[in-house]
Amino acid sequence: VDLTRFDTTYDHYESLGVKQFEKTGIVLVAGGLGERLGYNGIKLDIPVEVLETTPYIAHYAACIKAMEARMENPRSVPFIIMVSQDTGPKTLLALEANDYFGLKKEQVHILRQELVPTIADNDGTLALESKYELILKPHGHGDIHMLLHTTGTAARLEQEGIEHLLFIQDTNGQVFNALPAALGVSVETGYDFNSIAVNRIPGEAVGALAKLVHTDRELTLNVEYNQLDPLLRATVSPEGDVPNDQGFSMFPGNINVLIIRMASYVRILEASQGIIAEFVNPKYADDTKSTFKKPTRLETMMQDLPKLFGPNEKVGVSIFDR
Ligand code: UTP
Repeated sequence: VDLTRFDTTYDHYESLGVKQFEKTGIVLVAGGLGERLGYNGIKLDIPVEVLETTPYIAHYAACIKAMEARMENPRSVPFIIMVSQDTGPKTLLALEANDYFGLKKEQVHILRQELVPTIADNDGTLALESKYELILKPHGHGDIHMLLHTTGTAARLEQEGIEHLLFIQDTNGQVFNALPAALGVSVETGYDFNSIAVNRIPGEAVGALAKLVHTDRELTLNVEYNQLDPLLRATVSPEGDVPNDQGFSMFPGNINVLIIRMASYVRILEASQGIIAEFVNPKYADDTKSTFKKPTRLETMMQDLPKLFGPNEKVGVSIFDR
């Protein structure tokens, strides 16, 4: 669904989305280390703007309060935060020290993902910090699905009348601007899985949403940007990812903000136990491709949930202005 213009279609979806706030929960994945950012606190404590230095966590809480203020029949929006061993204590400290930023303590649910062992080479040798001490790293944001299942959180929220979960990341200050319209799209189209996206410039380091077609199966899924070009060249497009007249790829860029329909979600979690396909992405030390530059580990991604879908689940994309 194209939402790149602020027109009556946009207004229509936005008003549908606002009406749905009463039946919506927010899931924040905040277990990542932010190694690439080089910040040594939790990313949720970073200011989203410089004047009042509002941290992301306070900004998100304010947006949730604003959602509640717009409801006809006010209720607390369930706010689920996934943390890891690395981010958990500081996240809790920020919430406790600030009286949950105006939210009710009971509406905030903290789930903790576990770290996993890392391996040092192709033989799967465990990487060690010191003798008998493993080097551990996060297992990726795909753990959220397993945790929402094993803790019973997803099933409980469904029983409480929640119809959609919105999955957001730790440092996306814009996200609540787009959420009402995207939620409206999910309501109207009945999408089981709706990805917020923007038009993507070919080659850009942003995952691409594409329909993958095999002989007897079709799947709309995020393709990592480093895999898109080789995939296209080997299949439908010898020139790779070709821009259209506006300079954009035909494959929308995945912002990884997801809206999942609760009814199908709970059913799929029960069938799969929330176990998402793992992958490994080692960076090799040299051309012999036997030892890794840094220890690597198995990871999962939350946007891979549609891999568990059958032909009856609807996957869609809501495209916003960059
Ligand atoms: P990123 O892809 O930015 O990864 O995470 P990261 O681990 O935070 O950062 P780097 O790779 O170390 O630089 C996208 C979102 O997924 C969450 C992050 O907190 C962020 O909101 N995440 C990532 C988890 O919740 N758990 C993980 O294991 C990894």
